[in-house]
Amino acid sequence: MPSRAQGRVIVVGSSNTDLVVHCAKLPGAGETVLGGDMLTFAGGKGANQAVAAARAGAKVYFIGAFGDDAFGQARRADLEREGIDCSGCVVKKGVPSGVALIAIGKSHKGSKAENLIVVAPGANARLTPADVKKGMPRVLNTQDAVICSLEVPFNCIEIALKMAWPRSGNVILNPAPMPADGLPKVFLDHCHFITPNETEFELLTGAPVGSPSAIKKVAKLAGNHGLLYPEILVTRGPLGVDLYSQTCRDLKKEVARVVKELGRTPSKNEIDGYQPGFAKAPKVKVADTVGAGDCFNGALAAFLSYDDSVVNSAVEFAVAAASLKVTRHGSQAGMPYRHEILKMMKKLPRS
Ligand code: RIB
Repeated sequence: MPSRAQGRVIVVGSSNTDLVVHCAKLPGAGETVLGGDMLTFAGGKGANQAVAAARAGAKVYFIGAFGDDAFGQARRADLEREGIDCSGCVVKKGVPSGVALIAIGKSHKGSKAENLIVVAPGANARLTPADVKKGMPRVLNTQDAVICSLEVPFNCIEIALKMAWPRSGNVILNPAPMPADGLPKVFLDHCHFITPNETEFELLTGAPVGSPSAIKKVAKLAGNHGLLYPEILVTRGPLGVDLYSQTCRDLKKEVARVVKELGRTPSKNEIDGYQPGFAKAPKVKVADTVGAGDCFNGALAAFLSYDDSVVNSAVEFAVAAASLKVTRHGSQAGMPYRHEILKMMKKLPRS
């Protein structure tokens, strides 16, 4: 149990209503396929992360924008029912709330179910830096964790990261959806963790996960503040999470100190700053992967808000949470509770 006071999780991001159709095969361009009944779920990367964090035991504060329509009212009510503080949110007059059109089915090439998502951002795209500035809690403490994802305008993310960075000890940037031309340097300079999936990692660094050039590319992403951030946690679904750490810049020089601290010699991968399988995932029966990344981020932030002394434990907690989410339907609906995550942690494969 942590020895320090529990912090909060502050989430800056989107809220959507997910309109989901399952189909046997996803359509190709120009094709029409028939699917099942339409399912309506609460979604949006930011709101999903907020619910994941709340169910994982955190005190959560959400900053985002809703339209003045029935979807917006329903999505806000969902969050408030989860005990999430939405007082920093705004309602945009005459604007529709965010909607995501999601098709789930097998792709033409693959045998596994995948998803296609098109987002109509609506109010999310109208969030402004002034809204974020006004919505951010006046006081942020080192034990608070902040998560930002990229379904709201970049100038909002920039202000959120800049407000969070000097004060919160755990600033997480979830680069989703990841722009094809990489991230603004100012983002990299103002976060402790970046949490891409494999595709996002490749867009971010220009190198595939685990490739020989990836370590060098990651070092180039280091912040301009002389600190060993950002750490990159690559979420790889059933393969768990790989860590690309900036600490290698220190480790090479300071192996002796590290041997003393760890009580063992660091592995070559640790010295190089790349730890594949940093946290391993259990085998589970997959029902719906939509929101699994959001679940990882929310649970990670929740853990860090009450104990950030061992990052490895926080990542294992988040992997356990995401492994449970994929067994359930719906983004927010499928987020697991803390007691379930702690139980699942015991089933994680150990190296
Ligand atoms: O990450 C999953 C989310 O992406 C969905 O809930 C959908 O709303 C889109 O934002």
